[in-house]
Amino acid sequence: MIYARITGTGGYLPEKILTNADLERMVETDDAWIRERTGIQQRHIVGENESTVDLAEIAARRAMEVAGVEGKDLDLIIVATTTPDLVFPSTACLLQHRLGANGCAAFDVQAVCTGFVYALGVAEKFIRAGGTKRALVIGAETLSRIVDWTDRTTCVLFGDGAGAVVLEASEEAGILSVHLHADGAHSDLLSVPCGVSKNRALCEQGGVFIQMKGNEVFKVAVNTLGRIVDETLEAAGLEKADIDWLVPHQANTRIIAATAKKLGLPMERVVLTVAKHGNTSAASVPLALDVAVRDGRIQRGDRLLLEAFGGGFTWGSALIRY
Ligand code: UT7
Repeated sequence: MIYARITGTGGYLPEKILTNADLERMVETDDAWIRERTGIQQRHIVGENESTVDLAEIAARRAMEVAGVEGKDLDLIIVATTTPDLVFPSTACLLQHRLGANGCAAFDVQAVCTGFVYALGVAEKFIRAGGTKRALVIGAETLSRIVDWTDRTTCVLFGDGAGAVVLEASEEAGILSVHLHADGAHSDLLSVPCGVSKNRALCEQGGVFIQMKGNEVFKVAVNTLGRIVDETLEAAGLEKADIDWLVPHQANTRIIAATAKKLGLPMERVVLTVAKHGNTSAASVPLALDVAVRDGRIQRGDRLLLEAFGGGFTWGSALIRY
């Protein structure tokens, strides 16, 4: 049996930090509200001349260094992003050239905050099918570019960053199962309602950004993530007690706490980065994974449950023997 196993993780956050106190000077909000309702204390924001591929490259190089893999060794690059550098070429192609991985398959995946879990599931299937030996999977975002910095209901939530993993074919257990879902029925609850082919004029006026009915999204997220916990454990024939670490999408501490409760996991077994990173969409899960691997909390052999929920709606989970 061939498994896809994580052999390296990496992350990168841009230098500039925007604190809740900074936001108090920009919109009518306060540190106490933001901490209480979201758990966020600060977020990182890209510099003027930085873009998504710049963040992705640093995270990728860090993951590749740990795995001992060079660009020429890669068979596949998948970048999960909602904020690509360009309409095309894909961010994965831009990154491939920078890494000297020219020739391998490279493409982007767009599943908003669930993007990394989707990309991981796709790469895992490439590896299990044979032929692909080494894949680089990245979640990278510059969400600050699509945030309305005058809208207090959204601008306090998001941040920029990138996280990456190297996946390699292995006989040792690695990714045990991936569960992916979407429901396009509620696209009005969370969207950026303009693009290339629709409402383009609005986009060109520069007036369209992330729009979210936060409270409604919150309720769907809590219920949906509760269901996916059951689905993932049942598919693997595992009990709640078999999970060592929850590595969740970092949108809101209260949503994460509800999922941990469903799993019967104390918060000490949950990787929490939302306070320092904010919601970095597709980057949030691989960034959290990298933090807990590097600080030694996650050890080889641990069972991890990764999960995410986001625009689309999309949601998914991955069960991993690290
Ligand atoms: O990552 C993709 C998925 N996204 C999510 O999972 C996000 C899900 N939603 C959430 O995390 C939460 O709904 C929010 C953090 C966005 C909002 O928290 P909430 O507890 O649902 O608050 P609310 O939207 O019900 O707003 C409560 C009040 C409102 O005032 P009124 O109408 O009660 O007078 C808002 O206007 O809080 C007000 N408010 C703020 N006050 C201070 C909204 N934003 C702010 C703010 N500062 N930044």
